[in-house]
Amino acid sequence: MKSMKGVLLAGAVVIIAIALSFAICKASAPKLSKKTVTLNVGQSAKLKIKGGSGKVKWKSSNKAVASVTSKGKITGNKAGNATITATRKKKKLKCKVTVINTSDKTSEDISSEDINRSIEASTSENAANPDTDNAGSKILVAYFSVTGNTRPYAGQIAEKTGADLYEIIPEVPYTSKDIDYNSDCRANKEQEDDTARPVISGSVPDFSKYETVFIGYPIWWGTCPKIIDTFMESYDFSGKKVIPFCTSGSSGISTSETHIRKVLTGAVVEKGHRASSKSDVDSWVESLKL
Ligand SMILES: Cc1cc2nc3c(=O)[nH]c(=O)nc-3n(C[C@H](O)[C@H](O)[C@H](O)COP(=O)(O)O)c2cc1C
Repeated sequence: MKSMKGVLLAGAVVIIAIALSFAICKASAPKLSKKTVTLNVGQSAKLKIKGGSGKVKWKSSNKAVASVTSKGKITGNKAGNATITATRKKKKLKCKVTVINTSDKTSEDISSEDINRSIEASTSENAANPDTDNAGSKILVAYFSVTGNTRPYAGQIAEKTGADLYEIIPEVPYTSKDIDYNSDCRANKEQEDDTARPVISGSVPDFSKYETVFIGYPIWWGTCPKIIDTFMESYDFSGKKVIPFCTSGSSGISTSETHIRKVLTGAVVEKGHRASSKSDVDSWVESLKL
């Protein structure tokens, strides 16, 4: 009996010791101050390791997107994703970095020649939106772009499909202050307001003739800008095929696609596409077999 008690006591001591060592380990386990960071191009943030001690080695999986100094200062260099790894005593701690670009006029993956050609193709016609001389086309590429990333892809899609190109131009243009999403800017306020419907300047003549409508836009706070709602509510989309596309720092298209599907109940809304390079858009458009 005595020896039984001894065994039980010893067992209890061992269990408590194990639990304690787990608790101590957990409390002192080093952690990064942030597991995810979103930066604009040119913006920096400092990462710190909480708990533990010793020398830390910092590394970026994609320096072109986000670089990191030996002291854990990250800087966004171009739109995209990168992972920052801090290594201390063989322990690796990771932080996912998303860099978004709200000021560049170009998308890294498209040559400036392509951009100029596309911008020319769209802006020269913008005054009289819609534009291209594809008389009789039953496809329309309608797009909204503030900083110019979405525009060249819209031009590329229109060129490839022989579609008419239409730029959704706001009556009150967005200034750089209006899209400074780190502040209480116009774009942020609109995105938070379900009733916001920024007015569009002009309209698509003879919208009813189009059977297929591409709708392109930048992702703003995970979805399409409110001016896309204005556009969708301005026309009768019943029976039309709608194909959404977007550009973004990193967010996908699915939330906006779901939203478009909810608004355009009478249309057939196809799976959307986040444009990331000229070749990616080429192969996507080819896969649509229009
Ligand atoms: C107000 C605002 C909100 C944004 N929100 C997101 C976002 O939620 N996710 C993302 O990946 N990028 C976001 N971005 C980045 C844009 O989607 C990206 O820069 C886009 O390519 C811009 O397109 P544009 O040049 O045609 O206007 C945001 C930009 C702005 C101005």
